[in-house]
Amino acid sequence: MRVWAIANQKGGVGKTTTTLALGRSLAARGLPVLLVDLDPHASLTRAFGVAADPQPMGVANLFATPPAGLSDLLRPSAVEGLDFVCAQTSLATLERRSISQPGLGLALSQALSRHVGHEFVLLDCPPMLGLLVVNALAAADLLVVPTQCEPLALHGLEGMRRTGSMIERSRRRPLPTAILPTLFDRRTRAGRDTLARLHRDYRDQVWQHAVPIDTNVSNADFLAGQPSEGEKFPGRALPAYDRALDWLLQTDRAMERAA
Ligand SMILES: Nc1ncnc2c1ncn2[C@@H]1O[C@H](COP(=O)(O)OP(=O)(O)OP(=O)(O)O)[C@@H](O)[C@H]1O
Ligand SMILES: [Mg+2]
Repeated sequence: MRVWAIANQKGGVGKTTTTLALGRSLAARGLPVLLVDLDPHASLTRAFGVAADPQPMGVANLFATPPAGLSDLLRPSAVEGLDFVCAQTSLATLERRSISQPGLGLALSQALSRHVGHEFVLLDCPPMLGLLVVNALAAADLLVVPTQCEPLALHGLEGMRRTGSMIERSRRRPLPTAILPTLFDRRTRAGRDTLARLHRDYRDQVWQHAVPIDTNVSNADFLAGQPSEGEKFPGRALPAYDRALDWLLQTDRAMERAA
């Protein structure tokens, strides 16, 4: 089983969209995948049609005493081979508990170490550094950083890389980074310049293409296989995500072999 954390401390860069799109592509290739919503805002959970109130069983139950197992929490989606675990708004309270509280930073790693049945687990992280992101990075084999193709996003990327290095040192196991340029608008100079800079500065850590802006993916419910399926689909972004997946799989396999 391979675990990928989809993370960037900057908001609105395409983390949830990337989690859903890569999840769909993995499932379409016959690779069973579990998506875990670690964001108290629960966008991924809502995309799957689960309401926030009453709070569903989900990630917070991994932090209970005794902790729930992932297999008790996962739900099947409308897409075959694609399951998910909900986030709850109560995760926001958990987020405020100390990340230095013994054991709390490893709750997800422990749950994953006992889990079987999925070849891939994708962790949709919240746009902040806290307990949930620490859990995700402690558990991940690969850190995927969706990075919006606009100049300010480069700061978010650097912040995320620093956080990744910090966790890598404390867990004493490599955490390779794969940067995925997202929301690319070829019509704007800022978009083109940022993408060129990403490719120049991060070389083999960055996908050599970009996921374009595409109004077809702006409906997350649709991506999650909810009833609006059948509208204009697949557009340009989903085929791009499918190509990005080839690169991510290659990168991940190279890391697995090197480990
Ligand atoms: N390729 C794309 N083309 C058009 N819209 C997109 C694309 N990717 C993402 N979006 C839209 O951009 C917005 C932000 O995307 P998303 O929710 O995936 O980002 P996020 O990083 O998960 O945000 P947050 O930090 O709030 O969790 C959403 O409205 C989403 O539908
Ligand atoms: Mg999100």
